[in-house]
Amino acid sequence: MKTILITGGAGFIGSHVVRLFVNKYPNYNIINLDKLTYAGNLENIVDIQDQSNYKFVKGDINDITFLQTLFTEHKITDVIHLAAESHVDRSISGPMEFINTNIIGTANLLEVARTNWQSDDHIFYHISTDEVYGSLGKEGFFTEETAYDPRSPYSASKASSDHIARAYAHTYGMNLKISNCSNNYGSHQFPEKLIPLMINNIVHNKPLPIYGTGENVRDWLWVEDHAKAIDTVFHTGKTGETYNIGGWNEWTNIDLVQLLCSILDKKLDRAAGSSARLITYVKDRAGHDARYAIDANKIKNELNWEPSIQFEEGLEKTVDWYLNNEDWVNDITSGAYQDYYKEHYK
Ligand code: NAD
Ligand code: TYD
Repeated sequence: MKTILITGGAGFIGSHVVRLFVNKYPNYNIINLDKLTYAGNLENIVDIQDQSNYKFVKGDINDITFLQTLFTEHKITDVIHLAAESHVDRSISGPMEFINTNIIGTANLLEVARTNWQSDDHIFYHISTDEVYGSLGKEGFFTEETAYDPRSPYSASKASSDHIARAYAHTYGMNLKISNCSNNYGSHQFPEKLIPLMINNIVHNKPLPIYGTGENVRDWLWVEDHAKAIDTVFHTGKTGETYNIGGWNEWTNIDLVQLLCSILDKKLDRAAGSSARLITYVKDRAGHDARYAIDANKIKNELNWEPSIQFEEGLEKTVDWYLNNEDWVNDITSGAYQDYYKEHYK
C-alpha cells in the first residue's frame, strides 16, 4: 500500500495532481502537505476533501522536525514534490523566500526521505521547470541534455533544488525522478501569472500590462496534461531519469494576449477589438528571458505521453472557468493581492 506525500497540493498545479491521484488511485493514500501561502487555497481541492484515501496537512517544508514527524506518523512511501515559490516577478522583488522554500525546503524533504527509507522501492519525484535551462534565441529547443543556465532568482532556486536532488540520488542511491515542464495554464491559477491576470483585467476593463515589446516567447501546456504527465512519469518513468514536458505550443506574449482579448470580446458581447485597446506596454521585467521552448520527444517516445488538447480549446475552457468562478477570483484578488498589484505595477 502506497502512502504518497504530495507537497504543494493546494496550489495551481498541485491541486490538479492531487485530484487526479485521489480519484484515479483509490488504493493509494494521498497526504497533501501545503503551507497555504498566498498561492495555496483549500478551495482548489474542496471537491475531494472528504475522500477516504485523502488527508490534508498544513505545514512548512522548511520545518524539518515537522517533516520527520509527518514521515513517521504516516509511513510515507513516496514523494511527489511540487511545493515552491513559483512567480518570477516575486523572486525579483524578494528572492530570499525562494531560496528558503525552493532550495532549503527541498533539501529538508530529501534528507527526511533519505533517513526514513531503508530500501530502494521508494520514489522521490521532484517537479521542476524548463526555466532552469535559461533562455533560447529564435531557434532551438531545450532537451534533457541542455546545460543549466538559470537567470532569475526563481529559476536559480529551482536549478539548485534539481542539483541537490540529483546529488542525493547519486550519493545515497535514492530513486529519483525529475521533470522539467514549460508554462502551464488552466483553472485555479493565481491571477499574478500572465493568462489569469490578463483574463481578470480584461473582464474588469483594466490596462493589460505587456512587459517590454511583448515579443518574448513561452511554450504553454494545459495544466491537466501536466498532471497526466506527472502520473505517467511517476508510474512508468525510469528511475534516475529526467523528462522534459511541453506543449509544442509557442506564443509571443502579445499574440497570446490578443487572442485572449478576442475570445473575451465574444464571450462578453463586446465590439471586436475593444478589449485589445486595454493593451499597455510597460517597463520590461529585469533579466526577462527571451524564449522558452521544450523538445518533448523523450517523454513522447519512451512513455507515450502527449498533450491532449489544442491551445485554443484549452484557453477557451480556461476563460470559461474564470468567468464562472468570479467568487474564487474575488476572494483571491482582495486584500494582499491589491497590495502586490499596486506595488508591482506602479
Ligand atoms: P503555486 O505557486 O500555484 O503553488 C505552490 C504551492 O506550494 C502553494 O499551494 C503554496 O502554499 C505551497 N507552498 C509554498 N511554500 C511552501 C512551503 N514552504 N511549505 C509547504 N508548501 C508551500 O505553484 P504552481 O504554479 O502550482 O507550481 C507548482 C510546482 O510546479 C512548482 O515547483 C513550480 O516550480 C513547478 N512548475 C510550475 C510551472 C508553471 O507554469 N506554473 C511550470 C513548470 C514547473
Ligand atoms: P509568467 O506568467 O509570470 O510566467 P514566466 O515568467 O514563469 O514565464 O509570465 C509569462 C510571460 O508573460 C513572461 O514573458 C512575462 C510576461 N508578462 C507580461 O508581459 N505582463 C505581465 O503582467 C505578466 C505577469 C507577465
